[in-house]
Amino acid sequence: MRTVPVALGARSYDVHVGEGALPKAAGLVPDINGCERVAIVSDANVDRAWGDAAAEAFAPLGSTGEVERLVVDAGETSKSMQRVGALLEEMASRKVRRSDLLVALGGGMVGDLAGFAASIYQRGMALVQAPTSLLAQVDAAVGGKTAVNLAAGKNLAGTFYQPRAVIADTATLRSLPEREYLSGLAEVAKYGFSLDPALLERIEACTAALLRRDPEVLEDIVARSVAIKASIVAADERDLDDRRIMLNYGHTLAHALEALGGYEQWLHGEAVSVGLVFASALARELGYLDAAEADRHRQVLQALGLPVTAAFDPAAIESAWMMDKKYRGGVRWVL
Ligand SMILES: NC(=O)c1ccc[n+]([C@@H]2O[C@H](COP(=O)([O-])OP(=O)(O)OC[C@H]3O[C@@H](n4cnc5c(N)ncnc54)[C@H](O)[C@@H]3O)[C@@H](O)[C@H]2O)c1
Repeated sequence: MRTVPVALGARSYDVHVGEGALPKAAGLVPDINGCERVAIVSDANVDRAWGDAAAEAFAPLGSTGEVERLVVDAGETSKSMQRVGALLEEMASRKVRRSDLLVALGGGMVGDLAGFAASIYQRGMALVQAPTSLLAQVDAAVGGKTAVNLAAGKNLAGTFYQPRAVIADTATLRSLPEREYLSGLAEVAKYGFSLDPALLERIEACTAALLRRDPEVLEDIVARSVAIKASIVAADERDLDDRRIMLNYGHTLAHALEALGGYEQWLHGEAVSVGLVFASALARELGYLDAAEADRHRQVLQALGLPVTAAFDPAAIESAWMMDKKYRGGVRWVL
């Protein structure tokens, strides 16, 4: 197991990465003062696969040893103001206290929804992120962004709220559907292309092992990715300067593709994969990247089983960009 610190002064915490981190959770999470019970928020798929193990692992963190399991429907539609409202009501009716601990057990959807709920329930209660999808382990669970979607767009309401710890048990990835797993690999590749050449080389050298979810390779790749995200978050916690924008490499086209597909056609990482190839081609055109490096983008992503092309209408893409919350009088490219 590896521990990656997220250095944020009084809000610092550790991300514990590796096979078997979940059963050890009680020993990894710092003491939660006054915690009597643990509430675990999960979606139906994750609760089925990992709910019992998580309940057993987190129970000792409360003085009563009791666990409340709150389960939402799987899927992005649960990330709504209505659902967060219902979740808060359910927490209140089960008498969850402000001094208790809330655990977000699941992919990025659960992490964002439960993180948001923890940040506003009785003005804020302790939160632990226990990500179970690859995307959540390498990205969503680290950094403290929480959100729900509004009718006008994705992630338009939310908070910055750091967890007390992140428990990223790579064993939980075994039950993750293949398409979701590959989608997460696109974000890992993004870190490699944009911020960490050594990570990119590791991905190239271990592609087959990564694809069969080899535990050692997974632990290494997830820990390296978390370290990159942690360093960016530590330097720009609230997304105020241009540092965190590096995380958006490949995302300009990806966000538009996802919006045009009604958030159903593409998984996020699939759209990011196409977006990375597109951004690298643009960078090559502009002379920022040589042809071999641009080609490397395509090769790595293709070897990971990810899509590298998409048919789209440029006018529709442009109107999708204008709706994006990052639009500032023009389209911003990270190249
Ligand atoms: N807060 C952030 O910084 C941040 C960053 C990136 C993405 N996000 C958000 O994350 C969400 C996407 O996350 P995601 O890709 O994890 O999607 P998700 O949470 O919807 O999970 C994808 C699917 O995998 C299932 N699943 C998850 N873990 C599983 C497991 N171990 N075994 C079996 N099934 C499992 C889920 O039930 C779901 O059906 C989006 O809402 C996005 O906006 C947030």
